[in-house]
Amino acid sequence: MATLQISSSLFISFLLTLCLFVIPSLSSDSDPLQDFCVGDLKASPSINGFPCKSAVSASDFFYSGLAGPLDTSNPNGVTIAPGNVLTFPGLNTLGLSMNNVELAPGGVNPPHSHPRATEAGILVEGSIFVGFVTTNNTLFSKIMTAGEMFVIPRGLVHFQWNVGKDKARMITAFNSQLPGTVGLPNTLFGSKPEIPNTVLTKAFKTDDTTIANLKSKFVG
Ligand code: GLV
Ligand code: MN
Repeated sequence: MATLQISSSLFISFLLTLCLFVIPSLSSDSDPLQDFCVGDLKASPSINGFPCKSAVSASDFFYSGLAGPLDTSNPNGVTIAPGNVLTFPGLNTLGLSMNNVELAPGGVNPPHSHPRATEAGILVEGSIFVGFVTTNNTLFSKIMTAGEMFVIPRGLVHFQWNVGKDKARMITAFNSQLPGTVGLPNTLFGSKPEIPNTVLTKAFKTDDTTIANLKSKFVG
């Protein structure tokens, strides 16, 4: 009986140890199983990305959609050109993607997070204030100048603000073919259907009018 108990607790410890090794290897996109698998975007995505396109040519491995200059004349003064699997299917199953982010003077890339990737970025021109907030509510931030690199740990809320007099431009990279973006203002005040006002008035310790006003800015 005692032997049985010892062997079952050994077995449970073995399983727990195994989980410790297995879980980290599942924390980003899976490894490729072949040289490449250019995504067939017309097919439905499977758990490991899009099915592979059958006829492939050199043009599947090049993408010019990140080229600027981008038009930043919008209310936030920021425009992002994404190079992810949806715009550049050659990235399918390869576990990475990039953005070109351009900010007008004073422009803000609002607080957001990427549920499936860590983000690294290099400031190519201009000067930005970049920051992220940890799960214990600490803000790490810096005013960066061109040539400097930053990293945003996976899933953490971050933002960029152009504090210079000229346009700012950065290239960001992600360890996922489709990192996903949770934009906090849109997620909270522009979801469809809406998050009930009671939830938001309690969460933000405010009243219905304030919440209705915020929601009105994020409809559509
Ligand atoms: C910047 O934060 C980006 O997501 O490209
Ligand atoms: Mn980001």
